[in-house]
Amino acid sequence: MRVRLKGDAICTLLLVVALCSLLYTQLEHFAPKGHKEPTQKQPSVTQRILSDPRAPGRPTPAEATAPRPQLIPTVRRAEAANTRVQTTTPAPAADSAFNFKRYLLNKDNRNFNLLINQPKKCKRTPGGPFLLIAIKSVVEDFDRREIVRKTWGREGLVNGEQIQRVFLLGTPRNRTALATWETLMHQESQTYRDILLWDFMDTFFNLTLKEIHFLNWAAEFCHNVKFIFKGDADVFVNIENIVDFLERHNPAEDLFVGDIIYNARPIRVRKSKYYIPETMYGLSIYPAYAGGGGFLLSSCTMRKLSRACREVELFPIDDVFLGMCLQRINLKPILHEGFKTFGIVKPSAAPHLQTFEPCFYKDLMVVHSLKVAEIWLMWNLLHSPRLSCTQKKQVKKPFQWKRKAQTATQASPLR
Ligand SMILES: *[C@@H]1O[C@H](CO)[C@@H](O)[C@H](O)[C@H]1NC(C)=O
Ligand SMILES: *[C@@H]1O[C@H](CO)[C@@H](O)[C@H](O)[C@H]1NC(C)=O
Repeated sequence: MRVRLKGDAICTLLLVVALCSLLYTQLEHFAPKGHKEPTQKQPSVTQRILSDPRAPGRPTPAEATAPRPQLIPTVRRAEAANTRVQTTTPAPAADSAFNFKRYLLNKDNRNFNLLINQPKKCKRTPGGPFLLIAIKSVVEDFDRREIVRKTWGREGLVNGEQIQRVFLLGTPRNRTALATWETLMHQESQTYRDILLWDFMDTFFNLTLKEIHFLNWAAEFCHNVKFIFKGDADVFVNIENIVDFLERHNPAEDLFVGDIIYNARPIRVRKSKYYIPETMYGLSIYPAYAGGGGFLLSSCTMRKLSRACREVELFPIDDVFLGMCLQRINLKPILHEGFKTFGIVKPSAAPHLQTFEPCFYKDLMVVHSLKVAEIWLMWNLLHSPRLSCTQKKQVKKPFQWKRKAQTATQASPLR
């Protein structure tokens, strides 16, 4: 009897100890990595966000990785993304040491001055432009802006529709050469009239501010625009396809189209660039949102979003933040296969197939993660009078570097 009692007591004690340690691990906010917290077992979907190469000024060699079929389901993409994570440069220490406490404290500080404006941007065409291209850039990325201006981001007529362009910028994070950058901004603005510069520091976690300020700017200075494309400077955009697509829509109705990510989970791994603690976002799933590489919205949706976003609390990941605004206006974003905001992935069956097959790009709308030269090359190939994509044979024939040494420097993808 006494023995059994003793046994019971020991059992109870053990249970209490187990319960306490469980509580301890649950309560502990700063659990060290490798702790077997259930939240760390990320479903593969979340890895997409993790790999999203959207940090300003840090283009990623996405095309060098991820041999996957074209119309890849989410999980497959996640694998691709995984591979990419290893090949991309890790986020700088400043990002991983993101101070959530300070962010939460400063959250109400969300109105910054517009230092350089283009108030007449949308007033030049009677009735307003058909499409406004708004591109996130950082002051330092002059070359990226130049290539966009010269290629897919040209202002003027496409299929008879007026296209206008603006770049969205904050103040440079590196303050040492501020005077130079300031001069550059004023020169660029005078020359091209496409610079919007706000007085907040241009950091990855301030991209949400860029989103809010741009929507407010558009609602105030470009309310007569019919559609907006908003995207990164490291994308290739097939503007003809976009215009063609938009001509079939009504700007007075809701429209939000892009590479939509559904059911993504907040990343609870502290090491990650996209780490979000539960104190900042308590739900287990993000609302549907568009990959930041590029998406389209109608004038009507722009106005609604600019109002809705003012009521949404600041969130450090801009794509997700916009998803929250969309949720607020009860608008379901539309997924379009033509938006490849995670880059083109090569079919695994033909790893030698180059992404530089112009016919391959002909049916797409947006392709993310391209280098400056690649954007230039793709645009020129697509606009070459010699381009003919009617023969299937041509589409299938991959480009290969010519073997002979004398042709190596002048190899032309257009045979
Ligand atoms: C900031 O800019 C200066 C001058 O352009 C450069 O020498 C320095 O390395 C930069 N600092 C950082 C942290 O990038
Ligand atoms: C955002 O910009 C503001 C204003 O320049 C700055 O004080 C703040 O530190 C920035 N926040 C982040 C997270 O970089």
